[in-house]
Amino acid sequence: MKGFTIWLTGLSGSGKTTIAKELQNKLLMLGYKAELLDGDDVRRNLSPDLGFSKQDREMHAKRVVYISKLLARNGIISIVSLISPYRAFRAYAREELKDFVDVKCSIDTCIKRDPKGLYRKALNGEIQDMTGIQDPYEEPLNPEVTVDTDRQSIDECVDTILARLHQLGYINTLIEERSNAKQGKE
Ligand SMILES: Nc1ncnc2c1ncn2[C@@H]1O[C@H](COP(=O)(O)OP(=O)(O)OP(=O)(O)O)[C@@H](O)[C@H]1O
Ligand SMILES: [Mg+2]
Repeated sequence: MKGFTIWLTGLSGSGKTTIAKELQNKLLMLGYKAELLDGDDVRRNLSPDLGFSKQDREMHAKRVVYISKLLARNGIISIVSLISPYRAFRAYAREELKDFVDVKCSIDTCIKRDPKGLYRKALNGEIQDMTGIQDPYEEPLNPEVTVDTDRQSIDECVDTILARLHQLGYINTLIEERSNAKQGKE
């Protein structure tokens, strides 16, 4: 089975973690091996030494790319949910890996949602380096998939991503490979 990477980029509160978890569930239900590399979770475990400056974000993201590469090499689909605000970095990740799936959401909605209360803190000046407030977010120019979490439900977003993976041949290929392997064709 060939592994690949699904990369969700978007502002804080745009729905990356929510969609990534649901996407992982569906892929597991379909019989695929899928691992989740969520920004917060991986940061706690892998990058407790790093902050949110451009340099630190990049170092953290490079670690995630490295792990994702190891997983993909071993036939596992890795779902990366990381703000990854800089175009140049995503170009590097694309070069190293394969797929990018974008979660697109307006800043107004993110501020309204504010699931972690971070925008409120940033707007009050309690935290610095907040993407979309003090720090830039550079939208992807040519994403494989765009989901609009303003207008689509969580299920619709996940189904849009799965449909595109199917269209791109990732899911199909894997299903065929699996049934070939079962029949001893390889
Ligand atoms: N269509 C949708 N897709 C994803 N999330 C949605 C959608 N509609 C509403 N939501 C809600 O929006 C919030 C998104 O929060 P979530 O933690 O997933 O964002 P995030 O992009 O991972 O943020 P962060 O970068 O801070 O980790 C959740 O409370 C979720 O329930
Ligand atoms: Mg998240």
